Amino acid sequence: CHRDPNAENTGKPFAEQEAWEQNQRGKAILKFGSRDRKQRGDEYEFVFDNQIEFIKAAVMDSMNDEQESVIEPTEKSGGRSAFDVLQEERKALPIYQYREELLQAVNDHQVLVIVGETGSGKTTQIPQYLHEAGFTKVGKIGCTQPRRVAAMSVAARVSQEMGVKVGHEVGYAIRFEDCTSKKTVLKYMTDGMLLRELLGEPALASYSVLMVDEAHERTLSTDILFGLVKDIARFRPDLKLLISSATLDAEKFSDYFDFAPIFKIPGRRYPVDIHFTKAPEADYLDAAVVTALQIHLTQPPGDGDILIFLTGQEEIETVEEILKHRLQGFGAKIAELIICPIYANLRTELQAKIFKPTPQGARKCVLATNIAETSLTIDGIKYVIDPGFCKMKSYNPRTGMESLLVAPISKASADQRAGRSGRTGPGKCFRLYTAHIYYNDLEDNTVPEIKRSNLSNVVLTLKSLGIHNLLNFDFMDPPSTEALLKALELLYALGALNKHGELTKVGRRMAEFPLDPMLSKMIVASEKYKCSEEIISIAAMLSVGNSIFYRPNNKKVLADNARMYFHVGNSGDHIALLNVYNSWKETDYSTQWCHENFIQVRSMRRARDIRDQLKRLLERVEIALTSNLNDLEAIKKAITSGFFPNSAVMQKNGLYRTVKLPQTVYIHPSSGLLQAPPSWVIYHELVLTSKEYMRQVTELKPEWLVEIAPHYFQLKDVAYPDSKKAAV
Ligand code: CDP
Ligand code: MG
Repeated sequence: CHRDPNAENTGKPFAEQEAWEQNQRGKAILKFGSRDRKQRGDEYEFVFDNQIEFIKAAVMDSMNDEQESVIEPTEKSGGRSAFDVLQEERKALPIYQYREELLQAVNDHQVLVIVGETGSGKTTQIPQYLHEAGFTKVGKIGCTQPRRVAAMSVAARVSQEMGVKVGHEVGYAIRFEDCTSKKTVLKYMTDGMLLRELLGEPALASYSVLMVDEAHERTLSTDILFGLVKDIARFRPDLKLLISSATLDAEKFSDYFDFAPIFKIPGRRYPVDIHFTKAPEADYLDAAVVTALQIHLTQPPGDGDILIFLTGQEEIETVEEILKHRLQGFGAKIAELIICPIYANLRTELQAKIFKPTPQGARKCVLATNIAETSLTIDGIKYVIDPGFCKMKSYNPRTGMESLLVAPISKASADQRAGRSGRTGPGKCFRLYTAHIYYNDLEDNTVPEIKRSNLSNVVLTLKSLGIHNLLNFDFMDPPSTEALLKALELLYALGALNKHGELTKVGRRMAEFPLDPMLSKMIVASEKYKCSEEIISIAAMLSVGNSIFYRPNNKKVLADNARMYFHVGNSGDHIALLNVYNSWKETDYSTQWCHENFIQVRSMRRARDIRDQLKRLLERVEIALTSNLNDLEAIKKAITSGFFPNSAVMQKNGLYRTVKLPQTVYIHPSSGLLQAPPSWVIYHELVLTSKEYMRQVTELKPEWLVEIAPHYFQLKDVAYPDSKKAAV
């Protein structure tokens, strides 16, 4: 592969990158440039429009010298059953030779910190070893994961290895989905699920072992679990506690858990060549595509797969589109490149595709979010492409606003990503940033989520668990006092806490719902307005996220018209979501109807599942199911009861100010209220793209604010901006 020696690498994007076209959903579509193809003898030689130039840095790590050489991938033929093959694969994992020592250590110590390279077998094997050693005779083995996809896919893998069906002996639980049964002895679950389970089972009585896995990720829920399980372990000496982590930062965990011993599984790691770009890449998506093609076309097919780290579903879809398009240009002249996306909302059947072995002569190109950094191990990766970004939550305690932004990763993350290429043989990592950026600009470690989150949900959970003095809670890294106070303030405003900071009856009911406090409050308030049927439909639709409507490129107008059809009388997006749900129900949950109306049937089914669960929870908190469909004002007042802190008033054409804070916000382009924006609105959430947008917006009467939250709003807050007169 040759490049034009005269072409300067200016670090500027391709000419074709100028052609980024923003469609209204904010998704970028790339137009494609031309490429030359020169024939030389029998070989094709590809000349890229603009090749990325890399500078080789250093060998990251060398093979652990205590380890014997490469274990050849197991041959998957020879008349052995798939089950036998799996058993051999299990034995080939680095952890296998430490099985007995590990079991001994668990027997000898109540709390153990386990450290091992990603892919060494911690998540899939340790629970099985403990099961085989009899720990499940006295209780379940629970294993927490920070991510839903990891919990599901690991449970699937382990059930295969044990030759059982998922949901039987091996199961998983994620929010709104419980795939376990009475038989289940190995339970994989999200850390958030275990937190919720603690509400009903404060001593984790049904568990004999709890493994807090991927501890290094330091998610908000994992950090809270640390404090809780540390306490439980003190009064339950029979409970075994394992804290497992992929990084060497284990001392910190050990110190926190009263100097628990550290069990280190020596990794099998090969050298990784690190390459940095010579100049910064302005467009990392395109740079990633070009790099992947460079690798695919210049390296022999079958020598290893490619893994690209992207920040989310949108980026993954964009890169998939560009890659497919460019590959078409090469036709059948090159080896097959199988593109495998993986992200949280990907359908389960498609998720399985990334674990399928690559066929002979082809190459896999995995497009993954951070999930592939440590939670999921994909075998056969030899090349890693790291643009250096991830989606990161950030929280401003002053304004109480949380946002998800694309931000540079930390050095620790960059090293983890690079390490993914050296698992089965020597690897190569292509960083789409310069060495200078790596050494000078990247933080050493990612800040734990607890320091950049809205804490209201966590505070409500802790209060429900009877933990009153939050300032004294045993946090590994305490959140800022300001963030804690902000959470207490919000819960007080919602009526979940009284002025002494104690849980009220409303708060106790709210805590039963696995939702953010504002949504839970909306549901609890629906009792008063006699519209619980409608409100749980709305809550379920909101919980599905923004995947209800779709908008094909060639049918945008039709799709928009279909969407507007649900906006009867400019009553707002919440009511529109309710109309969608009810209309679907009237068609007896028809798939055809969804197609006709540009609605994703999968999202609707999920909404129905969530709604069913919310219905059961209503019973539990003894709120009657009542319908009040004709009284839209009652429904809006119930919404306002939960979301009054998210109210905004129009200043001038389309520009709003949040009522409590002087923050400028706009109605999201996807809202049905955009055409005729009302003076006062309430919104579900803020999203920051080019501006601070309110998403899911509904009209509001300002007098409701003082009626519903008199302790939060004063008359002056609800004065119309033009008249300066109180509106009540
Ligand atoms: O937890 P740790 O990173 O130490 O390793 P693991 O997740 O237990 O993975 C051990 C092996 O199981 C790896 O070789 C994976 O490729 C395989 N695995 C799989 O095939 N499918 C999954 N869903 C999870 C793991
Ligand atoms: Mg793991």
